[in-house]
Amino acid sequence: MFIDTDTASDDAVALAIAFAASEVDVVGVSVVAGNVPLDMAVQNALYTREVCGRTDVPVYVGADRPLVLPLGTAQNVHGADGMGDIGLDLTGRTADVGHGVDALIAASQEYAGRLELVTLGPLTNLALALRRDPGLVDRLARVVIMGAVADHIGNVTPVAEFNMWVDPHAVAAVLASGLPLEFVGWDISRRDAVVVPTQAERLRAIGTPLAEFCIDIQATVAQFCATETKLAGFDLPDPITMAYAIDGDIALETRQMYLRCETESELTRGMVAMDVLGFTGGEPNATVIIRADHERFMARLEATLTS
Ligand code: RIB
Ligand code: CA
Repeated sequence: MFIDTDTASDDAVALAIAFAASEVDVVGVSVVAGNVPLDMAVQNALYTREVCGRTDVPVYVGADRPLVLPLGTAQNVHGADGMGDIGLDLTGRTADVGHGVDALIAASQEYAGRLELVTLGPLTNLALALRRDPGLVDRLARVVIMGAVADHIGNVTPVAEFNMWVDPHAVAAVLASGLPLEFVGWDISRRDAVVVPTQAERLRAIGTPLAEFCIDIQATVAQFCATETKLAGFDLPDPITMAYAIDGDIALETRQMYLRCETESELTRGMVAMDVLGFTGGEPNATVIIRADHERFMARLEATLTS
């Protein structure tokens, strides 16, 4: 598995789930600008790798901005440092040598046909990799993307999910590529990956340093969910995406559809239109998760925090 991340508070839990999973071998992590500026996302990924005891997994620096648009971050959601602003020492760590895009291409060559890519942030690195080596399409076994919303209720604009909104041009390139794409949208996070306060307390009471880390860094997101998205707790979009990538049974319903991303409109930039009824006649280019298993996800999360 190769992971691309804009490491902030939910990405960190997704990384922890992957690092702890016996089912997967994480061969590399590339970092992309998104939730926070690139240098912070890199430090957050390196810090998380250390907390998880997985300094054996290389972490590479990727794209510092979207393909066309200026970078828009989500520090209002995840905190200025992306990790809940709880005072962690998130500086001074060194990433592995090489660019994240080159590392993804190299891994796809080394594990051709077997490598699974999980993207947890904007798709800038993946779009750049496709430009640099179109043959990537034939070497990736699957691409699991945290992104879009099947019910079109956005979390950064009325209709767009953040990862798609940051770099819609990258999304358009990925959707046109022919890659085997699987989307886990923010609708799934909002409905099937919300951790309410009593669950958060129970998970933190596991008492491991990892459990305390994964819960404590959600401080800012919990506030955002309470006041802005009006959820009953904090939601974990990247973790449920990662859990699904590892355990497909977390998906209770999926649908093959033709997806297109808006790149021009100021109002609907980043909206991923999903052709449910086949109006466009476009061949389906993605599998979209429609419903997921909250209990199975929570069991995976609890097992990770206990590890
Ligand atoms: O919309 C949720 C996504 O945006 C998650 O990946 C979160 O980390 C942010 O990147
Ligand atoms: Ca993310």
